[in-house]
Amino acid sequence: MKKKILLMGRSGCGKTSMRALVFSSTLYPNAASTKRLGTTLGVETSHFRILRNLVISLFDMGGQQAYIDSYLDDRKSQVFKDVGAFVYVFDMGNSAEQGEDDDAWEADGRYWRDCVRLLNQHSPTAQIFCLLHKMDLVQESSRRDIYAQRVRELRSKARDLLGPESDIDARLRCCGTSIWDETLYRAWSKIIHSLIPNIAVLESNLDQFAGVSGATEAVVFERKTFLVVARSGEAKERGAVAGTGDSKETASQPQPPQPSSSVAAASKVSSPRRSKGAPPALGQDDTALIMEGYPPSDAERKSILSSGQLHPERFEKISELVKNLRGSCSKLQASFQSLEVRGETFAAYLDVLTADTYILVIVADPSVELSAVKLNVHMARERFE
Ligand code: GTP
Repeated sequence: MKKKILLMGRSGCGKTSMRALVFSSTLYPNAASTKRLGTTLGVETSHFRILRNLVISLFDMGGQQAYIDSYLDDRKSQVFKDVGAFVYVFDMGNSAEQGEDDDAWEADGRYWRDCVRLLNQHSPTAQIFCLLHKMDLVQESSRRDIYAQRVRELRSKARDLLGPESDIDARLRCCGTSIWDETLYRAWSKIIHSLIPNIAVLESNLDQFAGVSGATEAVVFERKTFLVVARSGEAKERGAVAGTGDSKETASQPQPPQPSSSVAAASKVSSPRRSKGAPPALGQDDTALIMEGYPPSDAERKSILSSGQLHPERFEKISELVKNLRGSCSKLQASFQSLEVRGETFAAYLDVLTADTYILVIVADPSVELSAVKLNVHMARERFE
């Protein structure tokens, strides 16, 4: 199955940088090297096999004005047809540097709106991702509030374009990102996850696997990019965030960071830069959705860890570790198939699951033997292929 990702945004917002970092086949792509990237001329298309049955075609749409005009006009049906995920990159660094009128944000808003309108005509079921990018350039003290305010504005704009609230919740997702930290990896994991066919079956197999293995968590990673494809307990968590889950059922599962009172407060703060046409405030219930794509604050992270839950950024850290290990191994012309880590309170086992994936199993119960987990991984391979 082929799925098209349309990556759009104005020139210099960081599209090619993120493509290079997330999908690069070079060994040590690093954020600093993106400074050498030239501007994209027209459209650059690349294809990635993510799973055995999924090929992603990524269209990096150069953001210079002449190109933008052509996407929105004479090439619109070609550009916006058959899209699986539309990813729009907002340059928050640019926006944060502007004065009171915030022209950059307004211009982005107009371009985004035109794109979403055309997307709705030509690919009405496409998922829409708004990456509020270069968050590292926004002053740290106001980063959270500005992010919350911008997401609220986008959700408000989306009301005219996507219809009822339920459609917005189902189709629109916002994430704060930067090439300098793990937020980029997390956002792209979400994007890829949204395109995987039969994801519910994969997640339910994974839940079952974690259950019979006595695992605290089981995670499937894509083999080349090491993006998270699926993890146990995720379907239940999603239900809980969308307000459809049973909170008792999810109590024993690792929870996503819940909005703290400071976040709730953030949703009430109006942007210090917003000067015209402030959108209507959203209800308190929207706070979780608004902050879903924002990393937890230090205080939230501390409280998550002290309550015995798993580290909220564990996947990003594992991915980095494994990519570095793989790089070092290949320098020695070696490779690895599996990895075992034994900590004081947990054990982890990483192994190849299918031709295109790895599985990581985390066990906190001291009575569970890792050898039994290994055997389970071996036996489960056929089912996951
Ligand atoms: P066009 O090809 O003209 O459409 O631009 P683009 O959207 O592909 O932008 P590109 O990826 O070339 O990035 C432009 C500049 O932004 C580069 O110098 C990157 O290093 C920088 N950049 C990208 N992402 C980030 C980020 O998260 N933070 C910071 N500080 N700089 C970034």
